[in-house]
Amino acid sequence: MQIQWFPGHMNKSINIIKETLGKVDVIIEILDARIPVSSSNPMIPELIGNKPRLIVLNKNDLADPEITEKWMNYYKNLDHTMPVKVSSKTLENLENISVACNELCKDSKWINRREVRGMIVGIPNVGKSTIINALSGKKKVAVGNKPGLTRDLQRINVTEKFQIYDTPGILWPKFEDKVAGYNLAALGSIKDTILDLNGIACKTLEILISKYPERLTERYNFDELPEEPHEVLNLIGIKRGCLQSRGIIDIDRAVNFFLKDLRDGKLGLITLEEPSELLERERQTLEEREKRELKLKLKQEKKRNKKG
Ligand code: G4P
Repeated sequence: MQIQWFPGHMNKSINIIKETLGKVDVIIEILDARIPVSSSNPMIPELIGNKPRLIVLNKNDLADPEITEKWMNYYKNLDHTMPVKVSSKTLENLENISVACNELCKDSKWINRREVRGMIVGIPNVGKSTIINALSGKKKVAVGNKPGLTRDLQRINVTEKFQIYDTPGILWPKFEDKVAGYNLAALGSIKDTILDLNGIACKTLEILISKYPERLTERYNFDELPEEPHEVLNLIGIKRGCLQSRGIIDIDRAVNFFLKDLRDGKLGLITLEEPSELLERERQTLEEREKRELKLKLKQEKKRNKKG
């Protein structure tokens, strides 16, 4: 699945982050707790250097609590980094954001003289606007499914001791990581109209069959869970009455049923990726990059030979 991420927009955002970096004490990176890697921007760590980083695992109300704990431990072990898990929709643990920012700056010389300043960053749809609105207590930022919307930089006083800068522009996830594309699409963070929904459903079912087989069996009343994703989709189609004339299964409708169930939390609290999978993910991404570079090289050589 190839997704166009508009690198031009991203360069602009990166420049604004660089310009704003000097004005803030902490970078507050918002991630979707169900897909912390897929919903991250790979340039952030390099961009912010030694600046303290607060990782906010948002949408915790939808994530698998056991795996969230694994992610919390993973981030706790990174330098200059502290994680918190929150739900900006249910307002669960939101106060921990300012507490953790304060903790990250507690040894700074200025800590008793002025407020702590944080900058919120994150890819579209992780819940930045919802968090800012919840923290500021006012409806300041438009919320919704609108990747591509750019907002002006604004500063918000959360308390007398804590100030946040709103997201400067748009950051995209890792371009080269195919799994990230599938995961973001499965959870509805990329517009459905440009996607191969059947492929996305199959990739996600592959994960669910291995991690959460009982949820699928329960939700769709299966006697036995098939091993192959497309067989699961067929069975969902039959169970949900998605039939065309002459009894042919309407797979598109089955796919829509399944993705809606997943996004609405009807399959329970689910997390699609774990820290233990990171190394393999990196290896796959690297392999893909090498393949792409080799293909490009061969193409250029062919072109040169043709001219010569
Ligand atoms: P962004 O600024 O990072 O682009 O994200 P935004 O706040 O617009 O949130 C994207 C979607 O995620 C919104 O849903 C929002 O309600 C939902 N969301 C944000 N935080 C949480 C959370 O902690 N838990 C849950 N369950 N959902 C969250 P939407 O369907 O696009 O809009 P709507 O539901 O508000 O109508």
